[in-house]
Amino acid sequence: MAKQNIFDNETFFEGYKAIRDREGNANDLFEIPALFSLLPDLKGKSVLDLGCGFGEHCVEFVNKGASKVVGIDISEKMLEVAKKENSNPAITYILLPIEDIEMVDDKFDIVISSLAFHYVEDFDGAVKKIYDKLNTDGSFIFSQENPINTTYSGEIPRWTRDENGQKIYVNLSNYAREGERESEWFVDGIKKYHRMFSTIVNTLTENGFIIEKMIEPIPTDEILERFPEQEDLFHKPDFLLVKAKK
Ligand SMILES: C[S@@+](CC[C@H](N)C(=O)[O-])C[C@H]1O[C@@H](n2cnc3c(N)ncnc32)[C@H](O)[C@@H]1O
Repeated sequence: MAKQNIFDNETFFEGYKAIRDREGNANDLFEIPALFSLLPDLKGKSVLDLGCGFGEHCVEFVNKGASKVVGIDISEKMLEVAKKENSNPAITYILLPIEDIEMVDDKFDIVISSLAFHYVEDFDGAVKKIYDKLNTDGSFIFSQENPINTTYSGEIPRWTRDENGQKIYVNLSNYAREGERESEWFVDGIKKYHRMFSTIVNTLTENGFIIEKMIEPIPTDEILERFPEQEDLFHKPDFLLVKAKK
């Protein structure tokens, strides 16, 4: 199956990095706090981070007491930054696709992945391998783009707007047609994979996981005061986070 490595595209990489460096980006406001709220106590635990990117989370896991962290990513450019800016004796970074994690030695107490699975075509295959990589009672915690977002293909406008251009509601089409979507974000032809909520839930449970919690982050009053445009998330949460147990 195809494995895309869009983060090694120079234009995409620069655009993505600029967004992550911007104050008030969606990761900092919503996705990261939700992800970290799902973490168990990390003291003395081993953590495997799938699609670790710049390695910022890997360092945080060590700061929170993890004894060993392995971060894997398909992108050389992302790992270059990780090794330069977020190295630590307890962290090993490996250039490896999520689809091939059987190549990583050892089993882990926690497998975590932040915003990478919508780039992975074979979710079922990955979940099977993650189950095998976890110690008994281990946790699998991940975030991905919300299925309401991954269904979008650019064929119709994302929003219906009033005569003043204000967003009224989200347009949804082909939600139940799963599979590849091509979109434009800094560059053309970015491939993501859309799966319905039921598919995500059933893939986890049919492979032996118990789902403990799901989060679709929405803004607090404090966030809305600073970033009123985040009101949009009441129509359409951007992220989905799942905590599951082996
Ligand atoms: C949106 S970034 C998130 C990076 C990091 N997890 C974070 O939250 O800051 C997605 C990352 O997943 C990686 N990725 C995408 N598809 C992958 C695959 N099939 N195998 C491994 N890494 C992948 C990308 O290279 C990129 O670094």
